[in-house]
Amino acid sequence: MGSSIVQSTTTYPARQNETARTVSPDAVALGVALFVPAAVTVWGATYYFATVADRVRHPLHGLLKASGDVGQAFGVLGLALFLFMWLYPVRKWLGAIRGLGSVANWMRIHTVVGLSLPLLIAVHAGWRFRGVIGLGYLAMLVVSASGIIGRYLYGRIPRSRAGLELTRDEVAARRRAQVTEIAATLRLDPRQIEELLAPADPGGSVGGIAATFRRLVSDDWTRWRMLGALRRRWRALAEHGAQVDGRAVERALRLARDEIRYAQQLRVLDATQRVFRYWHVAHRPVSITALLAVLIHVGVAIAMGQTWLR
Ligand code: HEM
Repeated sequence: MGSSIVQSTTTYPARQNETARTVSPDAVALGVALFVPAAVTVWGATYYFATVADRVRHPLHGLLKASGDVGQAFGVLGLALFLFMWLYPVRKWLGAIRGLGSVANWMRIHTVVGLSLPLLIAVHAGWRFRGVIGLGYLAMLVVSASGIIGRYLYGRIPRSRAGLELTRDEVAARRRAQVTEIAATLRLDPRQIEELLAPADPGGSVGGIAATFRRLVSDDWTRWRMLGALRRRWRALAEHGAQVDGRAVERALRLARDEIRYAQQLRVLDATQRVFRYWHVAHRPVSITALLAVLIHVGVAIAMGQTWLR
């Protein structure tokens, strides 16, 4: 299929070059959320990585111990954000309600916060993880790491912009509209676009968990390669005098990425949804364990007068 993409048949006058690439706001938010605890860790490295005996004599002990002002501030923030993580399933359960933000945006925040929590809590704990709360921390690490797998699967189920799952009919309607739009943007024949964007079916079974992941990853790789070839071909259109400009090419590429992704996702949708259900079943008990451990830990710390509430 690669060769059909690379061959170009038409040339038109060039107008403008590509648009600037932007950094995703989620990556910026995650960078900031990780930077603060990372900076405190570097600043307090001589404390955090000292032996227990040396820590108590360290000048930063009063500030950086878990009940110190810095340690406790990270603890309070970590607790608030950890509890906030539980609002995602609530928001999803509430469905389409105006004014609460889309489920998709809640998922984005859930992801950024969930990825930054382990580092934030590590600073609160003074980078020491012993006893019951050590197990609680481990449970949270597992939830966070398993979240990455869940997020991968979540992104491989066709969804609307609002984050709600699309039916097969809705996907089919979107695909038709996308092909028409790409064709109009690039001033090409829709049938040619349709042919160009049809990913080859790699075949093979996708029933089990491992086979499903293998297929999803190989589809990602295929899509990446197809888009690279399309980018070269369509940019050549703009450069060689097409009546399309760089912006139109970038727009067509975005639509093409969605179109190829939909075609791939539909082929393995049942298997992806099944694996995602298994993931939910595994994710829930570990999340609840982490929640219980956190609540017990906070309750004990308050009861023992180790917090600002004493
Ligand atoms: C560290 C603390 C985290 C906690 C306490 C947490 C908690 C939860 C809970 C309670 C659910 C709902 C589970 C269900 O409905 O069965 C959930 C769903 C989910 N979480 Fe997390 N999570 C965390 C981190 C993460 C991270 C880091 C990611 C992504 C990188 C993530 C991605 C997801 C995804 C994709 C779903 C399923 C969304 C859906 O089906 O609509 N989570 N999480």
